[in-house]
Amino acid sequence: MKKFDLRSINKELCNFANVINKNKVESKDYQDFNNKELKVGVDLGTSSIVLTILDNNNKIIYGDFAYDNAVRDGIVVNFLDSVNILKELKEKAEKVLHTELLTAAGAIPPQTGEKSKKIVSNVIEEAGFKCTNVIDEPTAAAKFLGIENGTVVDIGGGTTGITIFKDKKIIKVLDEPTGGFHMTLVLGGRYHISNKEAEKLKRDHSKEKEVFPIIKPVVEKMGVILNSMRPLITSPIIVVGGATNFEQFDATFAKIVGQPIYKPKYPEFVTPLGIALFDTRI
Ligand SMILES: Nc1ncnc2c1ncn2[C@@H]1O[C@H](COP(=O)(O)OP(=O)(O)OP(=O)(O)O)[C@@H](O)[C@H]1O
Ligand SMILES: [Mg+2]
Repeated sequence: MKKFDLRSINKELCNFANVINKNKVESKDYQDFNNKELKVGVDLGTSSIVLTILDNNNKIIYGDFAYDNAVRDGIVVNFLDSVNILKELKEKAEKVLHTELLTAAGAIPPQTGEKSKKIVSNVIEEAGFKCTNVIDEPTAAAKFLGIENGTVVDIGGGTTGITIFKDKKIIKVLDEPTGGFHMTLVLGGRYHISNKEAEKLKRDHSKEKEVFPIIKPVVEKMGVILNSMRPLITSPIIVVGGATNFEQFDATFAKIVGQPIYKPKYPEFVTPLGIALFDTRI
């Protein structure tokens, strides 16, 4: 397993962000994909469904996403919508890559049980893939990050998941039903604006100075929750997930936790890319 190297991780994430934003194949050299060698990851998140595609050497090939309301707190609540969104993402990818996608891996929040695993695998299969694996989200993130020891804090749309790894094994999991959506609600309440407007304001990087002090208590609360897990916490502490996308997040969180924290660039893509690494055929 590779060592935790934030620089090379950031390089990969920037590369993926470039691919996903332009929605094109990363390298023009790729003409004929051997579809039996492509690895596909499906992240059914609360705020979006993300599709990631790697080649046999784990090189990033393609990425796409669609916003959805089909998943709540990491659990699929609208089966048909999830399938339809995923089908569309698959068809679009196949057009760009000129090949049929055969297999895919998925993920679930930790400790959500066999039933939610089955639902995710059914969504993937119903969309036309053979589902090769359904792993838990922090394990996917840890694989992409290349850590055997460490604490992964994933702050997504609906939930915050804290997972502590020791010698490659999960030794503690905590799931808190607070995430980026909660930050949007706090902001909406403060300015008396709709959720849609609050979401837009929250994501506006140029407004961070004004926005962050309002959502700061939410970030601090996450830090306090993490602190409650001492002395089990292992280093490094790595924060991922879309809701960590504030410049002032890092210092605020580190101050409460009392030790350095690491945040990759484009933290929302860590788990989706990790999931694709598990699309392996035996
Ligand atoms: N630039 C940004 N600034 C602030 N918040 C952001 C930004 N980009 C995304 N977010 C927030 O991140 C959250 C989505 O994060 P992510 O994509 O990791 O969640 P998810 O995987 O869909 O959800 P979950 O893991 O809870 O199922 C949303 O609440 C969104 O508003
Ligand atoms: Mg997520």
